[in-house]
Amino acid sequence: EESKLGVKGLVDSGLSSIPGLFIHPPETLSDFKPAQHRPVSVHSIPTIDLSDCNSGRRPSVVEEVGRAARELGFFQVVNHGVRTEVQDGMITAVKVFHEQSMEAKKRIYRRKMETGVAYFSNVDLFHSKAASWRDTLEIRLEPKADTEEIPEVCRNEVMEWNQQIQRLGSTLMGLLSEGLGLSPGKLQELTCPESRMMVGNYYPYCPQPDLTIGLASHTDPGVITVLLQDHLPGLQVKCGDEWVDVAPVPGALVVNVGDILQIISNNEYKSAEHRVLANSSQEARVSIAVFCNSNNMEIQFGPLQELVSSDKPAVFRQFTMEEYLRRFFATELDESLVDYFR
Ligand code: SIN
Ligand code: FE2
Repeated sequence: EESKLGVKGLVDSGLSSIPGLFIHPPETLSDFKPAQHRPVSVHSIPTIDLSDCNSGRRPSVVEEVGRAARELGFFQVVNHGVRTEVQDGMITAVKVFHEQSMEAKKRIYRRKMETGVAYFSNVDLFHSKAASWRDTLEIRLEPKADTEEIPEVCRNEVMEWNQQIQRLGSTLMGLLSEGLGLSPGKLQELTCPESRMMVGNYYPYCPQPDLTIGLASHTDPGVITVLLQDHLPGLQVKCGDEWVDVAPVPGALVVNVGDILQIISNNEYKSAEHRVLANSSQEARVSIAVFCNSNNMEIQFGPLQELVSSDKPAVFRQFTMEEYLRRFFATELDESLVDYFR
C-alpha cells in the first residue's frame, strides 16, 4: 500500500475536516477577515514598471522602489525581463513535482539539506503553534545543489529560474542601493544576491480554511525575496494593524525586503510581516520564493556607515553572517530576529 506524504497526502485521502494538529489558536484565527467584510484599505501594494530602468526612467523607478521598500517593504514588478512562458513553466514544474506519486517524492522527503534539496511538510512543528496547510520543495540554488539531486520533473526549469533570478536580483540590488542614496553597486559589493535558496510551496485545497493557515505570519531573514505566485490569492502583508492582500497580477513578480536589508539600511527599509491564508479553492495554489542573500561569511553586517549619522544613530549592532544564521535557526517563529541585533 502507498503511504501518504505531506498535506497533499492528507487531502488525497479524502478528509472533510482538518486534524486537530492543524487548528490554530484563536488569537491567530481572529483576524482572518474575508475581503468583503473588511473596510477598503488605505494601503495597497504598488506594481512598479521596470522597463527602461537602466536608461531614462531610472530616477523615477529608483524613487518608486525606495518608497515602497520604506513604507511597506513589499512591491510587485512588471516588465522585469523574465518571460511569461518561463514563469508559467516554473509554476507547472513545481506543481508537477508535488503531484507526482508518493514513491517519487519519498526519495528526498525530509532529507537533510547536505545535497541542497529536500521535500517536507511542517518541519517547523517544534517552533510553531500548529501545523500549516502546505507542503514544500526546498532547493539551494547558490552555492549550487548537486544537480542530479534536483528532481528531474523540474530540473531544467529550476536551473533556468536560477539564472533569471540572478539577473533580476542584481537589477533590484542596484535600484534598492540607489533608493538609499548609495552607489548602485553597494549591495552587490556585499555579494548580494550571490546566495540563493528556493522554496516551491504547494497549498492544497483546505476544507476548513478558517481554522488553519497556509503559512504562519513571519518576516523573511535574508536581503530580499523574489516571489512568483500563481493566480490564486492568499498572500497578505501586515501594514500597521491591517492585513493587506498581495493580489496576483498576471506576469508580475513580488519583491519584499528581508531582515538583513532592514538592518543594513539602518531601519530605512522595512522587513514586513506576511502570511498565507489556507487555500479554499479546489485547485492547489503554487508559489516559488527565492531568498536572495550575501554569501560572505566573514565581513561584518550592520547599519552601513553611509546611513549612520548623529541624526540617525545606528539602530543595530554589527555581526557576521555566521552569527546571524546561527541565531536564525535558534529563533522561534513568533520572535523577532531583527530585535535580537538591536
Ligand atoms: C513566503 O512567504 O515565502 C511564501 C509566500 C507565498 O506563498 O505567497
Ligand atoms: Fe516569506
